[in-house]
Amino acid sequence: MTQPRPLVAGNWKMNGEQASWKEAESLAGLLAAETAVRAEVMLCPPATLITSFGHQLEGSKLMVGGQDCHGELSGAHTGDISAEMLADAGASAVIVGHSERRTDHGETSEAVRIKAEAAHRAGLVAIICVGETETERKQGDTLNVICEQLSGSLPQNAKAGNTVIAYEPVWAIGTGLTPTLDDVGEVHRHIRAELTGKLGEDEASGMRILYGGSVKPDNAADLMAVADVNGALVGGASLKADDFWGIVSVYSEK
Ligand code: PGA
Repeated sequence: MTQPRPLVAGNWKMNGEQASWKEAESLAGLLAAETAVRAEVMLCPPATLITSFGHQLEGSKLMVGGQDCHGELSGAHTGDISAEMLADAGASAVIVGHSERRTDHGETSEAVRIKAEAAHRAGLVAIICVGETETERKQGDTLNVICEQLSGSLPQNAKAGNTVIAYEPVWAIGTGLTPTLDDVGEVHRHIRAELTGKLGEDEASGMRILYGGSVKPDNAADLMAVADVNGALVGGASLKADDFWGIVSVYSEK
């Protein structure tokens, strides 16, 4: 079976100003010069930068994504941004259900599913995040939690072409800790099996399942080599073009 094309997406979170363009520019330059990279590469900067990045990166191989969207098309939702607005600004994808949104903003899996559906409505790829807390892992609940989050967050008609799953153990985000390769493999295998049950073999086998949580240039090759890992969602190490490139180049054909 052919493997889906990997995706390496950088989540800048609440970091980045206009001057950060130089990091995106270097990355786009590296990507343009390096034809052997077989992964898709994306940056998800804060919303304030999407329009300028979107314009400046037009025609480049570096894609732009949002970090969150509202479920509705428009209306009285102060501070929110619709998926259509992200698309209009030049985004081709949006992260939904990141654990920081689930925790800081009380987003339920149902809310995440509505956002993923909005992303699809706007023609964006939805990058749906799932992941267990440290307590849930210690209690042996990891697979149940992932299964529940996936069932609640995944739109019924999700397709390989419009949906990406990101497995991000909450305790591994920004901590420098990562699960063992066996643990990553177990969760990704489980997610693939769940997707197969829900969407059928064709869509499930083509859907990218990213690993996220303390991915760095020095551990990326091992993590990306695990079966059913089709790329990475990277936080801290995506802020500097050189670090991010160290992860992206794991997928260099040379
Ligand atoms: P990290 O963040 O790479 O800094 O651990 C990952 C994420 O939150 O997407």
